[in-house]
Order: sequence, then structure tokens, then C-alpha cells
Amino acid sequence: MKNSNLHYQKTVTRIPWGTQTNAKRPIPFFENVMPKFIERGKGCRLWDIDGNEFIDFRLSLGPVTLGYCYDEVDDAVRKQMEKGVLFSMASPIEYKLAELICDVVPNADMCRFMKTGEDVNSCNIRIARAYTGRDMILMSGYHGYPDWFATEDSPKNGVPEFMKEYVKIIPWGDCEAAEKLIKKYNERIACVISIPYDFNEDTSGTYIHHLRKLTKEYGIMLVLDEILTGFRLALGGAQEYFKVDADLAGYAKALANGYPLSTYVGKREYMEHLYKFKMTTTYAGETLSIAAAIATLNIMKRENVHKHIWNMGERLMNGLQEIAGDLSIEAHAAGLPPASFLKIDTPDQKYNERLEYFWHRELYREGVFANQRWFISYSHKEKDIDEALEKASAALRRAVEAEQKERSNIQPFWW
Ligand SMILES: Cc1ncc(COP(=O)(O)O)c(C=O)c1O
Repeated sequence: MKNSNLHYQKTVTRIPWGTQTNAKRPIPFFENVMPKFIERGKGCRLWDIDGNEFIDFRLSLGPVTLGYCYDEVDDAVRKQMEKGVLFSMASPIEYKLAELICDVVPNADMCRFMKTGEDVNSCNIRIARAYTGRDMILMSGYHGYPDWFATEDSPKNGVPEFMKEYVKIIPWGDCEAAEKLIKKYNERIACVISIPYDFNEDTSGTYIHHLRKLTKEYGIMLVLDEILTGFRLALGGAQEYFKVDADLAGYAKALANGYPLSTYVGKREYMEHLYKFKMTTTYAGETLSIAAAIATLNIMKRENVHKHIWNMGERLMNGLQEIAGDLSIEAHAAGLPPASFLKIDTPDQKYNERLEYFWHRELYREGVFANQRWFISYSHKEKDIDEALEKASAALRRAVEAEQKERSNIQPFWW
């Protein structure tokens, strides 16, 4: 990690945190085993600036669903680049992508594009408020950095404190709290925005169905944040997988195989409200990312990518479960196959946390990049999963030993 460490010293003099994305900050406990800078990626593999190779299960925090440098996607981008990136009027490929999205995403009569997950969640909140003429929102889960989301840390994060009055938090999965808040604020609420599931252990869909039922009953809009679930759990995302209908939904990460594009979609009567107020930005019609999204969705449709992702995810989950069993560790594979994890669940919570921490340190040492959730891409083939499992087994064995020797020195902290 010599180059990583040297480059980091320089970088933090010019870039706060040394990165644009807080989740990509180096974690101190993984010093000298977790790379700080990546040079390149291909398929499901990454190479850091010291030349170390990793089988990657982080997928750039989720967007790289097909694999790094996926030829068909990059060729589509190169072809579009010859025509131009952004024009003085709309490009016809915008409609091509809109048709594809509306074809595969449930309840998407119309859609519009943006760049990030935060963008599209904010657009949906604006539509909901404008359409209903109400000012309050309820929310469950992480939705990005905008003011309406970040009230919990206000005012130290620059978000005015008065905004707390307009945003109420429902702890994800708490049906009772949701009902209480909806009853209390009822006619002030424009929408409830929620992630469909929290990438944790409750994969039942009970909570999101409960929110749908309540919002219908009280005449409140339901906005789904499908930034992580969209085009990942299924081609039609969580709306398809959990069979839940949203009024509006936002998609980003898995849409364009890493190119910056997001989309907000919804029922016609809500989307047509965009004719009544101003919501606009210059770069949303940037054609390279749109070309990447068209290629990505076409590959997903043509090759049944999701079946492969689920199969590989199941192979990984079964393997992780077996590895833990071989070492007599009380643990089970949890989550859904496109994003699973090994949940160590002895009665000693502190031990579980420490062992997980040591295991991840040893995973980096083995050349497996996995940060709590293991995302699967189309480029993870059986041999990659099997190789990762072998390394994971060695890492877990060493982690058990390390936990015994070094336990007093650490306090798990994932940022
Ligand atoms: C569920 C969810 N919503 C919203 C966002 C924010 O997306 P972005 O970082 O592209 O703004 C994220 C990012 O991780 C997310 O996981």
C-alpha cells in the first residue's frame, strides 16, 4: 500500500477527506490492507495503485451491475461520443431510454433523467409537495445529502433548524411509528418516502406493503427510493420484486453500469405536474450516460442478467454459510442474493462486531473487496465466487485467531 499511502498524504492537502464520496474514506483499522486509491477495473476485479488485485463485491457502492469496463456498454458510449455529449436541444436517444424504462419499471408512465440518487429523490419530493399543496414529508432510510433529508444533524451541518418541522423520520421497519405519525400529521403530509427494504435481515416486504396500505387509506403519496434496489433485485426493481406500487420512484445506481445517470418515474398525473412548476437542470440530458443506460438495459433484457446475479448470490450465500459452519461459528447468510452478508450471531454482540471487523481486515489482505454488503454483478462467474469463498474461508480462520489476540485493541467503526 506504499503508493496508496503516499498519494493519500498529498490528496488530503487539496481534497477534504481525500475523496468525493464519504463512504470511500479509508477506514483506519484497515490501514495497509485496504487500498485508498483504485487504478482500474475489469469485470468483477479491481487493481489499486500499488498493483494489488481484488475480487470486488462493492461495485463502486452499487452502480457497476454488469462489470467494470463492460465492452458493449463502453462501445455504445464511444459511438455516442463521436456525435457529441450535450446539445443545444434534446437528443432523440432520451426518448429511446424513456421508452425502455417505462417498459420495464412498474407504474412508470413517464420518466425524466438526472445525475444522482439524491437528485431524483429531491425531484420526487418536489412533485409530491407541488401536487398535493402540502409541506410535510415522512421518511424512512437514507436518501442522500439534501436539506430535506439531513435534518437530524441540523444545524451543525448547515441545514436550517426550522426544516425539522417539515420532515419527520420513521425508523425503517417500524409499522407502528409510521401509523402514529401518519395519524398525527395526516392532512399536512405530502408523501412518505422510503427505501423498499434496508439491505439487512428483513427481506419480507412487510413494511413497504404496510406503508402502501396506510398511504392509500390516508390519501398520501408513496415515493419509493429505489436507488439501491432498482434494476438490481429485478429488472423492474423492488416494485416488481415486492409487488408494491409506488406513486413516484427514483432510480440511479444500477441503471447505467457506473455512468452517472438517475431517473425519476411515476404515474402520468403526477409526472405531468412538471408542466406546472419549474424543475430543470443543464446536464440531465447528457448523452453518454444515456447511451450507457440504453446498452445496460438492453443487455439486462436480452441475457437474463438478474437470474445470473441471483444464482451467483445464492452460491455466495451458501458458501459463506458453509465456511462459518466449518469453523463452528454461529452465523447465517442474510439479505437477498444480489446483496447479501454473513451475519455473525452469537449471543455476544460485541464479539460479533469484532469478528466481523477482523474478518473484513483479513478479506482485504486476501484480495477480496467486500464492505459489509456483498453486491453481485453479471461479471461474477462461478469461478470468481468460488475463489472469493476460498479466500473468505482463510480470512475467517485468521480473524478468529486475531480476535483472540487483539480484541482489546479495537473498536469496530465503519464510518
Ligand atoms: C437508498 C439510497 N438513496 C439515495 C442515495 C443517494 O444517492 P447519491 O449518492 O447518488 O446521491 C443512496 C446512496 O448510497 C442510497 O443508498
